[in-house]
Amino acid sequence: MSAVADQDAGPDWATSGSGWAAQGAVFDHLFRDVTARIIATAAPVGTVLDVGCGTGALLEATAAVGAHPVGVDISQAMIDVAARRVPQARTLVADAGTADLRSLSDTGFDRIVSRFGVMFFDDPVAAFVNLHDAAAPGATLTFVCWQARADNQMFTLGTDVLAAALDPPPAKPAPGEPGPMAFADPDYVRRILTDAGWSAVEVEDFTFTSVYSRDDGSGGLTDGVDERLAVIGATSSGALREQLGDDAWFDLLARARAAIREQVVDGVLAHDNHCWLVTAERK
Ligand SMILES: C[S@@+](CC[C@H](N)C(=O)[O-])C[C@H]1O[C@@H](n2cnc3c(N)ncnc32)[C@H](O)[C@@H]1O
Repeated sequence: MSAVADQDAGPDWATSGSGWAAQGAVFDHLFRDVTARIIATAAPVGTVLDVGCGTGALLEATAAVGAHPVGVDISQAMIDVAARRVPQARTLVADAGTADLRSLSDTGFDRIVSRFGVMFFDDPVAAFVNLHDAAAPGATLTFVCWQARADNQMFTLGTDVLAAALDPPPAKPAPGEPGPMAFADPDYVRRILTDAGWSAVEVEDFTFTSVYSRDDGSGGLTDGVDERLAVIGATSSGALREQLGDDAWFDLLARARAAIREQVVDGVLAHDNHCWLVTAERK
């Protein structure tokens, strides 16, 4: 990912998925309820395409219920981790918005799923047409995406302290611009999918809690602060550190840590996340 400043605008995944890939276990811990909800909703069967599969959490969950997972991701670093983690999955590095996905399945995919992997397309209608073309008649699409930044501490907790130090301040993307919050407006999501040919489009509110605290290995829980800093580090580059120099950088990091620590309640760091669960069908 590029600088913290770019968190809203979205990272350049093709070149910098390695930060996320290195922290895949932390993200899977934070997003385990998303994985469970997608699997429960999609009820994977036959051949299942995971769009923007990252380090393979959904591929693994798909294989666990006896379906055949295929993962596509634009980042080589992500795919390397996913392929090692789920050797029975077919994985490929490609832009899911434009790649010939139809040829990967003889009869078309029975399910298409994604956990936060479909908000980064330059031309979302064309991309969802491409996914529609790759789906078998009767197939379903199930994905989870973010609601607005202001409702999601995932994008602000501690990160705001860092972003405030940037000069010039980070640019805010226009609504619908590729990035984590591109699908924050549910009407926009409905319009894209409908324009792309999908039927029975539903956008449902989905709230879940991310708990950063983890087993500390001696019967207790960590306070989750380091896990939160790992998430911030995984979605940031050294650009800000370069801009500020080491002394100012470490001072800023200490302030971010203090801001995160303020949110620890009874020794546990957690917050709610506000997302959309989106479903659709190919007729
Ligand atoms: C927020 S991460 C989510 C990763 C994974 N689904 C998870 O939940 O851990 C977004 C993923 O989408 C991938 N991605 C972004 N644009 C893509 C595109 N055009 N085609 C395929 N994958 C893409 C990124 O490389 C990244 O792995």
